[in-house]
Order: sequence, then C-alpha cells, then structure tokens
Amino acid sequence: MSVAVVVGNPKPGSRTLASAIHVARELAGEPDLVVDLADLGAALLDWSNPQVTALVEQVGAADLVVVASPTYKAAYTGLLKLFLDRFAGGTGLSGIAVPLMLGGSPAHSLAPELTLRPVLTEIGGTVVGRGLYVLDSQHDDPAAHDAWLAATRPFVTTLLSHTSAKGSAA
Ligand SMILES: Cc1cc2nc3c(=O)[nH]c(=O)nc-3n(C[C@H](O)[C@H](O)[C@H](O)COP(=O)(O)O)c2cc1C
Repeated sequence: MSVAVVVGNPKPGSRTLASAIHVARELAGEPDLVVDLADLGAALLDWSNPQVTALVEQVGAADLVVVASPTYKAAYTGLLKLFLDRFAGGTGLSGIAVPLMLGGSPAHSLAPELTLRPVLTEIGGTVVGRGLYVLDSQHDDPAAHDAWLAATRPFVTTLLSHTSAKGSAA
C-alpha cells in the first residue's frame, strides 16, 4: 500500500504540510511520498519536466493521497492547480483522495467540498466522506482533526483493506 501527501502552498514547510502529514499518518501510516509543491517552483510550468512527470505518476499510483492547500480567496491555491492539471481526467488518480484545506477564518469551511473535491474526483480520485477544513490556528491541535478522522477512518480502512487484499492476491 502506498500513501502520498501533496501540499500546494507557496511557502515550503507550512502548517498546511504539518496538518496533511498528521491526517495521512492517522488514516494509513507514515506517508511514502511527500510532495511540497513550493520546492518544485518554475518546473511546474514546464509540462515536459521529467521530475514533475515522475511525481505525477507516483502520486497517481498511490492508494491514498492527502491533497492539501491553504485557502486563498475562498479556494485552493493556483500552485496546487498547476500540479493537478497534469493528471489525466478520470484516471489520473487511482486511489482514495482526501481534500484538506487550512484557512484563517471559519467563513470558508466549505471550500474543500466546493472547490477541491470536484477537481479530485474529476481526475479519478475516490473521495470518502467530506473534505476537511482546519483553522490555521489549530493546525497542530489533534482535536481539530479528530471528529473528521473518527467519521472518515472506518470507510478509508475498509477500502484500503480491499486494496491490500487485491495486491496480495496478484
Ligand atoms: C493570498 C492569501 C489569501 C487568503 N485568503 C483566505 C481566504 O479567503 N479565507 C481564509 O479563511 N483564509 C485566507 N487566507 C489565510 C490562509 O488561508 C491561512 O493563513 C493559511 O491557510 C495558513 O496556512 P499556512 O500556514 O500553511 O500557510 C489567505 C492568505 C493569503 C496569503
């Protein structure tokens, strides 16, 4: 089973990254791949860049990917969109996708559902339950994630156990 985290924050090593890694660990264990898109810089604008192409393939093959962004102007960032645009429609993601957004205000708590979720399902991800919104001031507070984790983990675990069973039968 492979677990990935993608963070679309122009600032590297962000609170959004910390929250995304926490969610991945709680759902499926230590991530095998963490893509902090700020590190890729201008390479994201070059569709022939082999490093970005390889990351798209690895993230696409993950059994679970947490896709995280800070909320900018009520939506996910343009940086994240640059990366997600590289995935094929319908088949780009092959596993479970978790939409996660951090924001400064509760006013945009539906942003993961309204903005990020449709993109993840468009590129083939299976989104289980609701997207998660965390206030930036609570990014390191497990309590801010716990209710969502409790509601979502049983479904994710069930789906991942089918994935593992398929893998070991092959
Ligand atoms: C350009 C910009 C736009 C922002 N727009 C919003 C917004 O519309 N709604 C909101 O709740 N927070 C907004 N914020 C606050 C960020 O979402 C928040 O500080 C961020 O999620 C913190 O995560 P980070 O520490 O990982 O960057 C904005 C911040 C910036 C820099």
